[in-house]
Amino acid sequence: MSVARGGPLLQSRAMAQTPALQGKHIVLGLTGGIACYKAAELARELVKAGAAVQVVMTEAATRFITATTMQALSGRPVFTSQWDASHPNAMPHIDLTRNADAIVVAPASADFIARLAQGRADELLSLVCLARPIERCPLLVAPAMNREMWAHPATLRNVAQIAADGATVLGPAAGEQACGEVGDGRMLEAAELCDALVAFFQPKLLAGRSVLVTAGPTFEAIDPVRGITNHSSGKMGFAVARAAAEAGARVTLVAGPVQLATPQGVRRIDVQSAAQMLAAVLPEAPRHDIFVATAAVADWRPQQATVAKIKKDGSGRVPALALAENDDILATVARLPAAERPWCVGFAAESEDLARHAREKRARKGVPLIVGNLGPATFGRDDNTLLLVDAEGERELPRADKLTLARALVAEIAARVPKRPG
Ligand code: CTP
Repeated sequence: MSVARGGPLLQSRAMAQTPALQGKHIVLGLTGGIACYKAAELARELVKAGAAVQVVMTEAATRFITATTMQALSGRPVFTSQWDASHPNAMPHIDLTRNADAIVVAPASADFIARLAQGRADELLSLVCLARPIERCPLLVAPAMNREMWAHPATLRNVAQIAADGATVLGPAAGEQACGEVGDGRMLEAAELCDALVAFFQPKLLAGRSVLVTAGPTFEAIDPVRGITNHSSGKMGFAVARAAAEAGARVTLVAGPVQLATPQGVRRIDVQSAAQMLAAVLPEAPRHDIFVATAAVADWRPQQATVAKIKKDGSGRVPALALAENDDILATVARLPAAERPWCVGFAAESEDLARHAREKRARKGVPLIVGNLGPATFGRDDNTLLLVDAEGERELPRADKLTLARALVAEIAARVPKRPG
């Protein structure tokens, strides 16, 4: 891996940062449940992400959190009744849904899900859900209830029914519940719901595809307490995994030692060393269509890690550290027989002369696409600049946060990856 000072090569114009839900009109529906307190946070997250949020609450929801709180957080008066005389044409269920990009019901109680399953319309929120133009106003539902209620056959039947009718069910999560019991039924956290909504709106460019990603550094043990590693944060690889999952792909992420949260819907395999990363990647590679190697794999490992900690012997002599070269994971995958080989994307972390090094690396590793970046300028940072190098030439993705770049990269990959035969 090449790591040194950054150069001026990619000090390019910045990519405009648009909030993830800019321009989206979201109807946020609250039904009765303790998790209403999380809906307050969700309203804030959605507004922060650029969405216009219109809150609709059932009567039961108003027992848990006030409409005033939700009005203050969303910046709009809250609707609680279809009989609200202040609405000019007395048809809030029509007006609320005609310009909505999505309805998110969070929390969705067992009773509300049952009413959705039956197509009931005896209060404003279920009426709004029923009256929405089903083709262009999707319904997302975040269940929240006690674990026994969630596990009840009636609830499971109703959830299956609303999913069959086109609703997207977000969660629920497992964990400690307000009643003190532990199990399935907790509503997802506000940030998770906001991320899920952002993901929902991403174009499904990789639907039906599978993507294997390596990310982060590796750690090569010298003894039980020391090792060789590098400054890679794993952020770019995790962003690529998230963007691929948002684009509809089945994603497996092989991660070196990093403290990053697993993106939603991504299967994660944790490893430490380059050898472990290779051992994790090799059986997975033939099961995936695309392989994106973002990991900063250590080039060398100590020839032998000692079982016991190496101690100073008082003589002032330093221990000799013999190194062995690690296998090149990307090149190994790129050499698999065609029937087993995913479409490979490599990253090139360079210190200077990025385009030339990236071109050479592409040829040396035998991969169709190399993504170049200046290592020291990007490690640990939240933004980056990328240079795509393929058989046609070079293309720069200007400076942006890593998730924006990862989404742009996923679009570039989707445009290049060969169509499946037949
Ligand atoms: N890579 C890999 N296995 C290795 C080394 C690198 O899979 N043992 C992958 C990286 O994940 C990246 C690409 O190869 O996608 C290039 O990594 P980089 O560290 O930039 O290059 P090196 O191959 O290590 O070459 P050099 O150190 O000479 O720049």
